[in-house]
Amino acid sequence: MDLAIAGKTALITGASLGIGKATAEELVKAGCNVALVARNRDRLEAVASSLRKPGGPHIAAISADLYQSEHVSRAIADARKALGQIDILVNNAGATPAGGLTDLDDSVWQKSFDLKLMGYVRCARELMPEMCAHKWGRIVNVVGLGAYQSNPRYLTGGAINAACLAITKSLAKEAAPHLVSVNAVNPGPVDTPRWRDLLVQRAEKSGRTIEEEEKISVGGVPMGRPALPQEVASLIAFLCSQQAGYISGALVNIDGASSNGF
Ligand SMILES: NC(=O)c1ccc[n+]([C@@H]2O[C@H](COP(=O)([O-])OP(=O)(O)OC[C@H]3O[C@@H](n4cnc5c(N)ncnc54)[C@H](OP(=O)(O)O)[C@@H]3O)[C@@H](O)[C@H]2O)c1
Repeated sequence: MDLAIAGKTALITGASLGIGKATAEELVKAGCNVALVARNRDRLEAVASSLRKPGGPHIAAISADLYQSEHVSRAIADARKALGQIDILVNNAGATPAGGLTDLDDSVWQKSFDLKLMGYVRCARELMPEMCAHKWGRIVNVVGLGAYQSNPRYLTGGAINAACLAITKSLAKEAAPHLVSVNAVNPGPVDTPRWRDLLVQRAEKSGRTIEEEEKISVGGVPMGRPALPQEVASLIAFLCSQQAGYISGALVNIDGASSNGF
């Protein structure tokens, strides 16, 4: 399917691994120029090199720590300098640790909110006004089923993801008159480095093996497996397409039929 976005420019946070990297691959396939943002410069450069082809879309690799608001502004300024106007934002960088009420102190809560919720808000605040002025734009927030499937072992993740869903709905209403869409994709477990890290963290806390934690994690998934990053990336790319222009304020689950409600 031709997504009809060749020549558009996307900025993807958390683009060096997992869902973000797979999304960069999809958007480059669709002919988009892409700014890849994450912290580890070597990993970013490796992804950028794999995406650069003679005569193909332009790729910028931008190292930034999105916990910090000044890094967000600098990353976006660098992306504009390298690639010009940004038409598509994929908010994806997140690293919320597992843990329950007594496991997580204030600093963990604060840091998790600073990266995922405030990172998403800050990127949208920098980019959405320009998209609205140009009367075209796409924002996709990668959220997570924890937003409304309660899990006492992932307390911070649930709270942050719920907040991300709330801002998605509100920003969608604000941007819609300017032909800019804002949507959320809501994955269940996805087989990425982060999911593997969470299994290790949970095994350390529970005393179970990682294999047992993996079984528990996919136990509630009727399809019996985690999603592949490419499956989530295909959904994100579709939401960025010309054809998806009337979809806005949607919270799209991609979870192998796990969720009840929504
Ligand atoms: N995997 C799942 O099962 C799952 C399920 C539901 C929702 N999600 C959500 O999907 C999103 C992506 O998850 P993933 O599983 O693809 O994660 P991942 O494999 O761990 O990749 C995370 C990406 O974010 C970057 N990142 C982390 N901290 C950063 C920071 N402070 N500043 C800038 N970049 C940072 C990482 O690169 P650096 O470390 O180099 O910075 C990496 O590129 C997250 O928001 C997560 O909550 C994942």
